Order: sequence, then C-alpha cells, then structure tokens
Amino acid sequence: EIGKIADNLELDVYIVGGFVRDLILGVENFDFDIVVEGNGIKFARELAEELEGEVIEEHQEFGTACVATRLGLKLDVASCRVEYYQSPGALPEVEASDLKQDLFRRDFTLNALAIKLNSERFGKLIDFFGGKEDLEAGLIRILHNFSFIDDPTRIFRALRFVNRYDFELGQITRELMEHAIDQKVVEGVSLGRLSNELELILKEETAAEILSDLEEFDLLKFFHPQLSWTAKQSKLASEIPWAERWVEELEIEEELAVWQLYLLLLVNPLSVAEAKSLLTELKISNDIIAKVEFIKESDKEKLELLREFNVQPSEVYNSLKSLSLEELVYLVIVSENTEVKDWIEFYLLELRRIELQVTGKDIIELGYEPGPCFEKALQAVKTKKLNGELETYEAER
Ligand code: CTP
Repeated sequence: EIGKIADNLELDVYIVGGFVRDLILGVENFDFDIVVEGNGIKFARELAEELEGEVIEEHQEFGTACVATRLGLKLDVASCRVEYYQSPGALPEVEASDLKQDLFRRDFTLNALAIKLNSERFGKLIDFFGGKEDLEAGLIRILHNFSFIDDPTRIFRALRFVNRYDFELGQITRELMEHAIDQKVVEGVSLGRLSNELELILKEETAAEILSDLEEFDLLKFFHPQLSWTAKQSKLASEIPWAERWVEELEIEEELAVWQLYLLLLVNPLSVAEAKSLLTELKISNDIIAKVEFIKESDKEKLELLREFNVQPSEVYNSLKSLSLEELVYLVIVSENTEVKDWIEFYLLELRRIELQVTGKDIIELGYEPGPCFEKALQAVKTKKLNGELETYEAER
C-alpha cells in the first residue's frame, strides 16, 4: 500500500531505524519510521487518505508528520534531512537532503539500515555503513567521531542497546564514548531529555544491568552527585523479575509498574529531600515522588510490624491500606523475608477485600442520631471481621 502511494507520487520511500534492526534480529517492533526522499508531509497526507486514517501531527519546520491508521497503528513520516547541531545537546536545524545523509546522522550502524518500500525493489535492504554486519557480530558502533558530542543522549542509548541485545561496544565507539564522558558532554543535555533517557532505561527488562553500566562509566553523577548503584542495590534489583512473576501469579487487577521499583532502588542512596528535589526536577509525577517518600520514611516501621510475632490482621490491614502495589512489592523485596511476603500476599488477596456491608448512612436511615460512636462501632466491627473473629453471612439475594 505504502509502496503504491510512493510510486504514484514518484517518491522513494523507506522504512528505517529500529523496525529494520529488530526485523533482522527477529524481535517484534511496531515503531514505523518512514523516510521519504522528498516532501514527507505531502506523502503523509496522501497516505492518511489512502489508508482512511488521519494525520495526527505535522511539523512543517522539521518536515515530519505522524499518521494514525484506522487499525490504531501509528506511522512516523519524515523527509530526508541533514541536521546541523548548533551546540552539543541542542535541537537540530534541518535542511533537505537524500537518504544516505539522513541515515548518516543517526546514532549507530545498526539503526542506520533502511528497507525500500516502493514496488520496484520492494524489501531491498539498504546498508551504507555495515549495519547488518554489526548486527550479526553483536556490535554497537557509531557512524562518525562526533556522534556522542552531537548528541550525548546516545551514550545512554548505547548502554541500553548493549544490554537489551547482549551486544558489545565497538572498540573505537567505546573509546569515543569514554572520552565524551570525560569531557562532561552530558552536562549540556537538558533535564527533560535526561529524564526521558532515565525512564527508557528503567523500562528496559535489563534495567539493573544498564544501571550497573551507568555506575561503571560514572554517568550517574550527571543526575545527582550522590547517586550510585552499589552491589547491594544490584542484588535487591535482581529480585525484581521474581517479584514480577509473583504478582502475576496473584492475578490481581492492578498492574505493577516495574520501572518504579528500579527507581525506588536507585534513589536509595539519597536523603528524602535530595530524592524529592531530584525527581521534581526530572518532572517525575507527584504520586511516584510520594512513593519514594514513603520508602524513605516509613518502610522500616512497616517491616518491623510485619515481622512481629503476634501481629493481628487488622493491624496489618491498617498499616498497609494506604500503600500502592509498588510500595508493597518494594517491602517484600527489601525484607528478604517470607513472613513479610506472606502477610502482603494475604493483604492483597484477602484483607483489603473485606468490606463492611453496613455504613454510617444505613444507620442514620434507620433513624439513629449520627455521632462519633458510629465511626467507632463500625471500626470495631471491621477490626473483628479482619481478624476473623466475626462470622458474616451474605445477605440473601
Ligand atoms: N536516533 C538517533 N539519535 C538519537 C535518537 C534516535 O540517531 N539520539 C535515530 C535512530 O536511528 C533510531 C531512530 O532515530 O533508530 C528512532 O529513534 P527511537 O524510536 O528513539 O529509537 P529506536 O531505535 O526505535 O529504539 P527503541 O527500540 O528503544 O524504541
């Protein structure tokens, strides 16, 4: 379909980047980055019409557009371009050019592959820089010596790809990367972009390994001077995949935001105030910051309670009821204790589902004067129920 539209408009059109890389690796990828040799916006409009979708974004100045198809797929369309970087880390300026130069401005050889989509030579792999060979050899290589200087976020991308695919950095790439780090090029990256990179890292399956690499390459200091990823944090993080499976087996409704667990572990070396100000600067949402605050301030006390010999279910319930799933799972991970895990499992599956079928409103409707004793009485009944000291019969339906 895309090929035909390209033929009609007499434009050469390619799919590029991550999709091609993952196609060769046999990994699923639904990121469709399309590059047009010519007017990409015109092509995007035509494509939207032909596919009965719509152009949902258009950036004239960059020559890019995004098309949403009827089936919910998104296609990013760009015009071939060369970018001139004003200063390291700044947004690029754009000028028209051809495919080879468009690919040359990209981060690594394995991301600089293209597949032609026109009917003539449909599916032909275009590989100007030896990307396929690097993919087969498991190498991450930059395309030119200034790559990390032009765009220091590539340092983080390189470490993401290294760990995701279990690849290695090419020799020269590694040296240039170390050099760029020594030159502190990362300091020129905006907080917004840094934050984006951090989130992408924490969302990788191999987040723990990437964080170890960030420590090894001395990159964490660009986020905060006190940030580190020690053997202890790394060991706790190695429990996360197990915890993820455990939660899955519980079959509860909420989804565990696994990346937040890595974040909670990462900010461990910081004080509450340091962690809060860092995460605020990184524009991490307030509810996540609240989780960090809880971990810093009351995790010890909760763990102590759960480890007590004679603790009552109602006490457990009251202690855990305001916590999110991530906070609960974090407690299990750091406790390294099966009793804590059993209590939290019991809480998630049983305790938090115990509801009182009677409310204060019901009692008022029966004509009783409302007062503080209501609340007390209801609370007392709930406590008894939680502790299994009260049998409840379901109302007849
Ligand atoms: N790219 C780049 N430099 C960057 C970011 C992106 O050269 N700092 C290029 C790469 O060619 C990449 C493409 O833009 O393939 C698309 O970027 P993005 O969607 O972020 O990356 P993917 O390679 O698709 O990676 P992921 O699988 O993590 O989405």
